[in-house]
Amino acid sequence: MKFAKPSNEPSRSYCVGSAERKLLKEAIKKIESEVAEIPLVINGEMVFTGDKGKVVMPHDHAHVLAVYHKAGAKDMRRAVEAANGAHKSWGTVPWTERAAIVLKIAELIDKKYRYILDAATMMGQSKTAWQAEIEAASETIDYLRYGAHCMTEIYSEQPSSEEGVINHIEYRPLEGFVYAVSPFNFTAIAANLPMAPVMMGNTVVWKPATTSLLSSWYLMKIFMEAGVPAGVLNFMPGPGSVGSGVVLASKELAGIHFTGSTQVFNSFWKGVADNLSLYRSYPRIVGETGGKDFVFIHNSADIKAAAAAILRGAFEYQGQKCSATSRAYVPASRWDELYAEFKSMMAEVKVGDPRDFRNFVNAVIDESSFDNCMEYLNYAKSAHDAEILFGGAGDKSVGYFVQPTIIKTTDPRFRTMEEEIFGPIVTLYVYDDDKYEETLKLCNETSPYGLTGSVFCTEREALAKADDILRYAAGNFYINDKTTGASVGLQPFGGSRGSGTNDKAGSKFNLMRWCSPRTVKENL
Ligand code: SER
Repeated sequence: MKFAKPSNEPSRSYCVGSAERKLLKEAIKKIESEVAEIPLVINGEMVFTGDKGKVVMPHDHAHVLAVYHKAGAKDMRRAVEAANGAHKSWGTVPWTERAAIVLKIAELIDKKYRYILDAATMMGQSKTAWQAEIEAASETIDYLRYGAHCMTEIYSEQPSSEEGVINHIEYRPLEGFVYAVSPFNFTAIAANLPMAPVMMGNTVVWKPATTSLLSSWYLMKIFMEAGVPAGVLNFMPGPGSVGSGVVLASKELAGIHFTGSTQVFNSFWKGVADNLSLYRSYPRIVGETGGKDFVFIHNSADIKAAAAAILRGAFEYQGQKCSATSRAYVPASRWDELYAEFKSMMAEVKVGDPRDFRNFVNAVIDESSFDNCMEYLNYAKSAHDAEILFGGAGDKSVGYFVQPTIIKTTDPRFRTMEEEIFGPIVTLYVYDDDKYEETLKLCNETSPYGLTGSVFCTEREALAKADDILRYAAGNFYINDKTTGASVGLQPFGGSRGSGTNDKAGSKFNLMRWCSPRTVKENL
C-alpha cells in the first residue's frame, strides 16, 4: 500500500462576508461561552485529580476558558505504566493501519473540527484568524498527511537480497515509551510532537504546555475519536518538573520529543545523563529550542520586500514563533529608504484582541512573558547606544499587550541583538556598506543559536559570500523571504547549535528517529 505525496492543505482566508468567517465566529462564541474541564487521559480513561489550574485568554485575562486537572507524580507513574502496557500491541499493528488512523485525524480536523480548533487556538493562544488557520488547521493536517506519505517511503526502503539469501530491515519502534513535551506557540507542533512517535509505532506520555491547553485538549479528543487506542497516547497536563522527574527516572524511557526553551531542553540532557545506567537503550533526545533569527540586507536588496519581511517575521504572532525575526542588519546606503517603508507600514499595524479581525498583533501568552518583554524594553530605553524607533510600551491591565517595537542600536552586540526575547521586538544594526563580509561574520557569531535566517540580496557573488559565512547560522535559510512560515514537506524545519538537534520536523528525518531498525539476514 502507498500513500502518495500530498499537496499542502490550503488555508481559508476568513475574509469579510465569507461563509467560513461566519462559522469561525460561531466557534469563537462557543469557546467564549463555556468553561471547559480538562482531565488527564491515562490508558484511555479520563482522570480528574482535583488539583486544578486555570487557562485564561491572554488578551482578556479575566476570562477563564478552562479549568484543568494537574498530573501528580503518582499519575505520571500510571501513565508510564499505561504506555509500557500498550507498547507490544501498538508496535505490532501494521503500519498501514496506523497510517489510516493518522489520515482519519487529518480528515476530522479538515471536515469536522477545523473551526473549533482554530477558535480554541485564537482564544487560548491569542492568534489572529489567519495565524490560527495556517497552523492549527493547515499545518497540523500537513504533518499528518505528509507523515503517512513518509511512512510509505520509510517502510518500503529495503536492502537487496542475494542468491539464496533474503535481507530485510524491520523498522521496529523504540524499545520503551517516548515523552513528548509540547510548547504553547503552535497547535500544529503540539499535534506533531506526540503523533510523530505514535505514527512509527511508539507509545507516548504527552505533557502539553499548560497555557495552550484548550487547543491541546481538542487535539487529544480528536486523536481518540480517530481511533488511537487506549494507552498509546497518555495526556498529562501539569507542572513540568513533576512530570519530568518521574519520566527521567523510568528505565523504559526510550525517547524525548521536545519543543520549548533551551533551559528545559538542557535539563533533559542532564537528567538523561544522570540516569544513564538505568535505561535499557540510550534515549533518543530530539528537540527544537530557542532562536535569534536574523534578516541580513545587502545593498542590492529589494528594500520594500525586506521591510515587509522584517515586520511580518518580527510581529506576526507577537514574535512568539521560534522562527521569528528578532535582529536585522541594514546597509547604511539603504537605511533612509528602509526607515520610510517602516514608517508607512507601521502606521497600518493594529494591536488588540483577536476577536476584532482587523488586529494584526494580539497579546503575548502570559504575564511572565509580558514582564520579560518590558524588562528588555526598559533596558533599551535606558541604554545610550540604542534608540526605540517604534513602540516601546505595553499594557497588561486587560490583556498582555506589548506594542510592536523596533530598536536601532549602534552596538552589534547589544543585548537585544544577542538574547532571545520571544516577543514583538526586533533590533536593527546599520553597517557600513564596505563592511559587508565583516558584518556577515558578526551575524554568524553574535548568537548561540542556529534556527532561521534570511538574506535579501540580488547579486550572485554577494549571495554566495553570505551562503558560505552563514552556513551553520540557520537550519532554515531563506533568500529574499521572511524567516517564518516553513511548510511541511517543502521546507523541513529545524536548526542546530543552541537551537536543537535539527531533526527536521515534518520530514522522514524526524520520523526515522522514532524507530530502531533490525536487520535480518535469512539463508534459504
Ligand atoms: N513552521 C513554523 C515557521 O517556520 C515554525 O514551526 O514559522
